[in-house]
Amino acid sequence: MNSTNIPPDIEPRRLHVACVMDGNGRWARKRGLPRTEGHTAGEEALAEIVRAAAARNVGWLTVFGFSTENWVRPRPEVRHILSLHRKIFGRVDEMRRNNASIRWIGRPFSEKGARTPVYVQRAIQKAVADTAGSNGLVVTVAFDYGGRAELARAAGRAAGAGPVDAHAISRNLYDPDLPPVDVLVRTSGETRISNFLLWQINGCRVYFTDRPWPDFDATELDRALALADTPR
Ligand code: FPP
Repeated sequence: MNSTNIPPDIEPRRLHVACVMDGNGRWARKRGLPRTEGHTAGEEALAEIVRAAAARNVGWLTVFGFSTENWVRPRPEVRHILSLHRKIFGRVDEMRRNNASIRWIGRPFSEKGARTPVYVQRAIQKAVADTAGSNGLVVTVAFDYGGRAELARAAGRAAGAGPVDAHAISRNLYDPDLPPVDVLVRTSGETRISNFLLWQINGCRVYFTDRPWPDFDATELDRALALADTPR
């Protein structure tokens, strides 16, 4: 045992950063471009943040890719955002080069109300399988995801199996291995919490920035990481 009582062979958990990638539409409007161009730039910004996070030895990066509420957007915009999900889940070689694995959270495909189209399901399944050998950064994309839906489902499942306490809820989340969030990032000047990781953000730091998501870069990531406490 050392002076911190941490056995030398047990490393502290690496940081978990979660991002609400707001402001793609506003980024595009400012440039006189269609909203879809903002999302395209947002996907590229995400790929860049994956590289930056991997280089900084971040353990977990979880992003809000598409919410259970986003389905009401205009059809062409939804179609475009879905195609960008196929693109990010297709970046397998790049993820592997960064020793990053891809995971997904959201309403399980076979459950009532779930809306993930089959071609996105396939892209998710392939990306998860093809990057499972990486042991560095874990990139989790929340798609067809809502924090309240996740909690309601976890409570329902826990209730069928004994006392409903915090451990039982945690065990029944979409990905029970997802650690607590250390820093939540929200871009584009939106200083609110939304329906994202409502259980996992307990106690986390929050980094709000006026920059829209397509302009979120490695320097911004460093500012967010600087807020984090020593990993628990
Ligand atoms: C917010 O911009 C972003 C989204 C609705 C999610 C989609 C995110 C991306 C396409 C970025 C890339 C990520 C993945 C996983 C492919 P907004 O439309 O709400 O912008 P606004 O608030 O300025 O209107």
